Amino acid sequence: MAKGLSVKHLLGIKNINADDINLIFETAENFKEIINRPIKKVPSLRDITIANLFYENSTRTRLSFELAERRLSADVLNFSASSSSVSKGETLVDTVNNILSMKVDMLVMRHPNPGAAVFLSKHISANIINAGDGTHEHPTQALLDAFTIKEKLGNIQGKKIAIIGDIMHSRVALSNIFCLKKLGAEVMVCGPTTLIPKYISSLGVKVSHNLREVLNWCDVANMLRIQLERQDIKYFPSLREYIMQFGLNKSILDSLDKKIIVLHPGPINRGVEITSDVADSSQSVILDQVENGVAIRMAVLYLLAGKVSE
Ligand code: CP
Repeated sequence: MAKGLSVKHLLGIKNINADDINLIFETAENFKEIINRPIKKVPSLRDITIANLFYENSTRTRLSFELAERRLSADVLNFSASSSSVSKGETLVDTVNNILSMKVDMLVMRHPNPGAAVFLSKHISANIINAGDGTHEHPTQALLDAFTIKEKLGNIQGKKIAIIGDIMHSRVALSNIFCLKKLGAEVMVCGPTTLIPKYISSLGVKVSHNLREVLNWCDVANMLRIQLERQDIKYFPSLREYIMQFGLNKSILDSLDKKIIVLHPGPINRGVEITSDVADSSQSVILDQVENGVAIRMAVLYLLAGKVSE
């Protein structure tokens, strides 16, 4: 096992290797044990200052990173584009350089533009964690998803994992595919033809447009939201038709001859990609994913903080 990460930034899962992922998991297991103790805080990042830059809305990722930073005793700055001088025309690089002048060591950034974190990493020296960049990558989401699958099924190697829904606009799908393939899983994507990009099979995944066939095949179903905010045209005739073909409900789940586990990165659209009785069922691990997100983000922050002076 490697002693440190092979990268200075976490820009995407594409840029890291299986040793990096396993090191993050091993570190997260330790942190998960710590955050379930009565005293949840450790002094590991006491001398580190981290700025959370959110140029796009977030509930889980933002709170999870902030909690992870505070559990590690880091100093935390929160920046929200909507209430900043970005509205007065300040560029991303100028904004970030001003923040870094305040002696900030690490950045966590969510941005609507694919490649924003990669772009920034070429202009500044601080460590960057990509908290989701448009339709590109959401590395910590993929790590917490895979960590949760490993926790529930014991291993990722050889497991059959389905990613179902709006693959085209999903950074979660792309990061999950990179992560799961690096860990030896079989991956199948499922959704309407119009929401599955043509290049996807070049990533080594199978493609299906038949939900029942996919559910009969898989051990894990990761249900994705239809990202209407990223769609400039209509990709399917109606939401009702989408639900009929690709929505996961309890009667389909109960009709399978094995108990699969159900993931969802959130936010859920109850009654669209997943019904409430599935989301709240014993086969759903959605809240385990959220719990594991804090430990995974603590692990990533801790491991990258070891590279602050590089
Ligand atoms: N899963 C996820 O990224 O959720 P948020 O958009 O609420 O952060």
